[in-house]
Amino acid sequence: MSKSKDTSVASHPLPSYLNADHLGPWGIYLQQVDRVTPYLGSLARWVETLKRPKRILVVDVPIELDNGTIAHYEGYRVQHNLSRGPGKGGVRFHQDVTLSEVMALSAWMSIKNAAVNVPYGGAKGGIRVDPRTLSRAELERLTRRYTSEIGMMIGPSKDIPAPDVNTNGQIMAWMMDTYSMNTGATSTGVVTGKPVDLGGSLGRVEATGRGVFTVGIEAAKLSGLSIQGAKVAVQGFGNVGGTAGKLFADAGAHVVAVQDHTGTIHNAKGLDVNALLEHVAKHGGVGGFTGAEKMESDAFWGVDCDILIPAALEGQITKDNAGKIKAKLVIEGANGPTTPEADDILNDKGVLVLPDVIANAGGVTVSYFEWVQDFSSFFWTEDEINARLVRIMQEAFAGVWAVAQEHKVSLRTATFIVACKRILHAREMRGLYP
Ligand SMILES: NC(=O)c1ccc[n+]([C@@H]2O[C@H](COP(=O)([O-])OP(=O)(O)OC[C@H]3O[C@@H](n4cnc5c(N)ncnc54)[C@H](O)[C@@H]3O)[C@@H](O)[C@H]2O)c1
Repeated sequence: MSKSKDTSVASHPLPSYLNADHLGPWGIYLQQVDRVTPYLGSLARWVETLKRPKRILVVDVPIELDNGTIAHYEGYRVQHNLSRGPGKGGVRFHQDVTLSEVMALSAWMSIKNAAVNVPYGGAKGGIRVDPRTLSRAELERLTRRYTSEIGMMIGPSKDIPAPDVNTNGQIMAWMMDTYSMNTGATSTGVVTGKPVDLGGSLGRVEATGRGVFTVGIEAAKLSGLSIQGAKVAVQGFGNVGGTAGKLFADAGAHVVAVQDHTGTIHNAKGLDVNALLEHVAKHGGVGGFTGAEKMESDAFWGVDCDILIPAALEGQITKDNAGKIKAKLVIEGANGPTTPEADDILNDKGVLVLPDVIANAGGVTVSYFEWVQDFSSFFWTEDEINARLVRIMQEAFAGVWAVAQEHKVSLRTATFIVACKRILHAREMRGLYP
C-alpha cells in the first residue's frame, strides 16, 4: 500500500543569496504567495517551488563606449518557473534594476501567464543601466552583448524575452538578429514585441491598453457602473495609459484627469483624448496641453472620478494617498503600482482593484499570438487578434471573479489562487525529475 502524502507545508530557509533584511520586491511577492497558500489545498505541498526561481543568470556586459573607454554593466535573466512552458517575460534597461526586482518581475510573469492561461512559464531580464546615457551605437552594442551572454538560456522553445521599461521594438530587433547570428538561422520567435516587418504582430502595441479596457468593462458591468459618462483618471499617458484612455473615451467615458512625468492636467467635462494623444506624440508629455487646467501633482489622487488607471510606475498608490482616492474601480495598467498597505486601505474603503497580474496581461497575450504566428509564418489580421485577445481576457477575468466570490477574497488574491493552482498542478503532473 502506498504511503499517504504529507500535504503540510514544510518551512525552508531563505536561499543563501538572499538577505532577509533587504528582500526588496521579492519580499512583496513572497508575502503574496503566503497569502494564497491556505487556498491551495493539497497542492500547497509544492508551494516552495514558487518561492525559489528555477534559474538565475547574472552576467557581466562589457562594451566599448564611443570615447574608447570600456564600461561594464550588470545584466540578469531569471527563469522563475517553467512548469507550464517556456519562460516569457520582458527585458528592462534601468539604472535601478536589481536581482530582487528581476526575480519578483519574473515571478509575476509566471502568475500573469498562468492567470490568462497562455502556455508559458515566467521569466524576466534586465540590465542595470540608464540607457539615456548611451548613444544609439552603444545601446546596440550593449543589447547584442547582453543577448549573447544570456544566449544559453533563451530560445523560441526555452525562454522568449520581450520589451519592458526602456526597451522597444528596435532593441527586440537587435536581440533577434544577435540570437539568429549566433545560432546560424533567422529565429524570429526568440523574442516578441518585434517590429511588424520582422515578424511582429499587428495589435501588439495597443494590446496591454486594450486588455486594461476589456477587464475594466467587465468589472464595471459586474459592479453596476455605467461606462457612458463615467469619469476616468489616468496616470501615465504612454503606451498603456494612452491606449486605455482612448478606448474608454471612445466608449463614452470622460477622461477628466491625466498625470505623466511632465505634469498633471484636469478638465471636469472630459479631455479631448485624440488631441491629447497628438500633443503627447509631438511634445513628449501632457504638460502644456491647452484643452485642460493644470493641477498640483498630489491633487491627482483625490480627483473626482469613477475609474482610476495607474499606468506609469510601480509604488504609486501608497498608504499616504490611498485614503484620498474617490474612484470605485482601480485598474492596474502598470506593474506593481499599489503597495500592500494601500491595497488594504482601498479594500477597506470598498474600492474594487483589478490587479496588474490580470489587468495588464493583454500585452503578453498578444506576445503569445506573435510567437504562434512566427512559428507558423502565417500572420493574422488585426481584427482576428483583437477578437482573440478580448475573448481570452474576458474568460480569464470571469474565472478570477468567480474565485473571488467563492472565497470572499480580493481579486489580487483570487488571481494568485487561480494562477498558483495552475502552476502547481502542472508541477505535480510532471513530477520531480529524476
Ligand atoms: N507596454 C506594455 O505592453 C506593458 C505590459 C504590461 C505592463 N506594462 C507596464 O505599464 C507601465 C507603463 O508602461 P508603458 O509601456 O505604457 O510605458 P511608456 O514609457 O509608454 O509610458 C510611461 C508613462 O508613464 C509616465 N511617467 C513616467 N514617470 C512618471 C512619474 N514620475 N509620474 C507620473 N507619470 C510618469 C510617462 O510620462 C509616460 O506617460 C509600466 O509599469 C509597465 O511595466 C506595460
